[in-house]
Amino acid sequence: GRVALFFGGQSAEREVSLNSGQAVAAALEWLEIEHLMIDTGDVFPGPEVLKDVDRVFLALHGRGGEDGTIQGYLEALQIPYTGSGVMASALAMDKVRTKQLWRGLELPTPDFCVLSESEDWVSVMQRLGPVICVKPAHEGSSIGVQKVKSVAELQAAFMASAALDTEVIAETWVEGPEYTVGILSEGALPVIGLSTDHVFYDYDAKYLSDDTRYLLPSGLSQEEELALQQLSLDAFNAVGCKGWGRVDVMRDQEGRFWLLEVNTIPGMTDHSLTPMAAQAAGVDFNELVLRILASSYA
Ligand code: DAL
Ligand code: MG
Repeated sequence: GRVALFFGGQSAEREVSLNSGQAVAAALEWLEIEHLMIDTGDVFPGPEVLKDVDRVFLALHGRGGEDGTIQGYLEALQIPYTGSGVMASALAMDKVRTKQLWRGLELPTPDFCVLSESEDWVSVMQRLGPVICVKPAHEGSSIGVQKVKSVAELQAAFMASAALDTEVIAETWVEGPEYTVGILSEGALPVIGLSTDHVFYDYDAKYLSDDTRYLLPSGLSQEEELALQQLSLDAFNAVGCKGWGRVDVMRDQEGRFWLLEVNTIPGMTDHSLTPMAAQAAGVDFNELVLRILASSYA
């Protein structure tokens, strides 16, 4: 049948999605799957455009595409789509509620609070410090993420993040390294460790730098790798995610893992992690696209 590939969109991650879209399109081409490319940031695809479409491959990142809104629209039109449903997509885009859920299930996630304008900054510093991560609650690709070490920095970071989002989160900083675990067809892919000279694995380290080192195999012991894969699957399932995704995790100095977030439409660019992990599991990019597409039938 005919596939529509949604990409681009209007979120802050538009550039990333343009690249994911190009890569997925090339794979669909190679697989000889008839497809229609739709940049949802250009024109919103009305029902008439989707009349002859059998399913949608979602390569949209961030708000408006990864957060349940497009998913709800496609549900209403009764068109199957790749990845997680409305509820899990909306939940995963919301770091506050995702962390509340994980905490309720005793899945480890760094201590945090939601910041407000009238915050008692000193007590936030005392509770979560000495180093804190401040970030918009509904953003991706590390956009707006800041590392702060003082009340003055905390306040400034809040102001900066509040300009990007309706909710701002402060979280105890875990020094890392960071690990990421791709999920495909209900299983965890090999773990990737991330090593960067940047302060953390930020937007530049993710997409622009050629100096970011990807540890694959992760360098973890087999026991730790398995434990991290299981933790990531538990975190993914707790949110109700489906099909595919990627869970981001920090490992502290004592070797404990801390869940940061789950991405329901992870990047598919040539710098992206899920394709790398799939490759290590013997699933090349074309096969990955096919497997993700197949998940829309479930
Ligand atoms: N949010 C970006 C696209 C990722 O998780 O890969
Ligand atoms: Mg993300």
